[in-house]
Amino acid sequence: MTPAPAATASANTNIALIKYWGKADESLTIPTASSLSLTLGGTRTTTTVSFDDGADGADAVTINGAAPGGTARARVTRFLDLVRARAGLTAAASVVSSSVVPLAAGLASSAAGFAALAAAASRAAGMDLDDRALSRLARRGSGSAARSVFGGLVLWNAGVDDATSYAEPVVVDGADEPGGAGLDPAMVVIVLSEERKTIGSTEAMRATMRTSPLYPAWVEAGREDLRAALAAVRERDLPRLGEVVEANALGMHAAMIASRPSIMYWLPRTIEALHAVRAVREEGLPAWATIDAGPNVKVLTRGADAHAVVAALRDRLPGAAMTVRRPGGGVRVEGVAR
Ligand code: PMV
Repeated sequence: MTPAPAATASANTNIALIKYWGKADESLTIPTASSLSLTLGGTRTTTTVSFDDGADGADAVTINGAAPGGTARARVTRFLDLVRARAGLTAAASVVSSSVVPLAAGLASSAAGFAALAAAASRAAGMDLDDRALSRLARRGSGSAARSVFGGLVLWNAGVDDATSYAEPVVVDGADEPGGAGLDPAMVVIVLSEERKTIGSTEAMRATMRTSPLYPAWVEAGREDLRAALAAVRERDLPRLGEVVEANALGMHAAMIASRPSIMYWLPRTIEALHAVRAVREEGLPAWATIDAGPNVKVLTRGADAHAVVAALRDRLPGAAMTVRRPGGGVRVEGVAR
């Protein structure tokens, strides 16, 4: 028997500027609306996969040196089942994954994790997918992972089915560098709490869609938000982009908070941080907040002003950990070994 090839791939995480919140089709992860994100540099997860029969015929999964249990493991196995079905394989896999940023760093780890897993597993299974096909595959692991296939600014077209729901880089006026697009965007990631989230995004999305009277209004407003954000990107107008980014995220959380029972990812410090961002902006610095399914706040700013923004925020949020992230690249196949 020839040994199974081991493929290694890596991907950065991304932060949505215009959010994805809600699945029109849960089994295929088709979102209710398109979303826009920024892939962040220095946030890679690197994953090696081989279909070598795993451990005694079951998938062997190691993430940051530990074997995950429960739903985390089940999600990986379910994803590997998809890859096996497409490639016509039956062998169990060995998966070893590690990320340069700790899981509790306030950054969506599933986006980088499933983008890297999609690239490594498809290669190990002998498939050579183009970026669009890879984005569609990664989407099945975690919606936001569809966007981490690409670097810089990325648009995930909601689509209507598996074939039409994929991400693509946002390129402005033929600018050869898709990430920056002349905007010089950067993110300050503020970690206020490292506690694990109380409710996962899939379940929270479902509850928001079913029970929040504000959800339809947020989706509707989001379509206009996306148009405004893309226009701002084209015009390289960071303040205009920032305003719509903050409004879109606050609207998403308003819809969640209005769910019955309420879904509240915010902590008191989250609100403090929102006020701090506003105060810094009123001082004349470019700073707009966005928040995902957790208590931490990310601040969209201009790369050239990022350190001034951090200094101004530090005065107002003593003790909070802050990291500046610049746009990063997309998925990378690091190697295939036999
Ligand atoms: O990819 P998921 O299922 O973890 O959902 C991500 C949801 C948000 O991070 C809150 C928004 C987004 O567009 O990334």
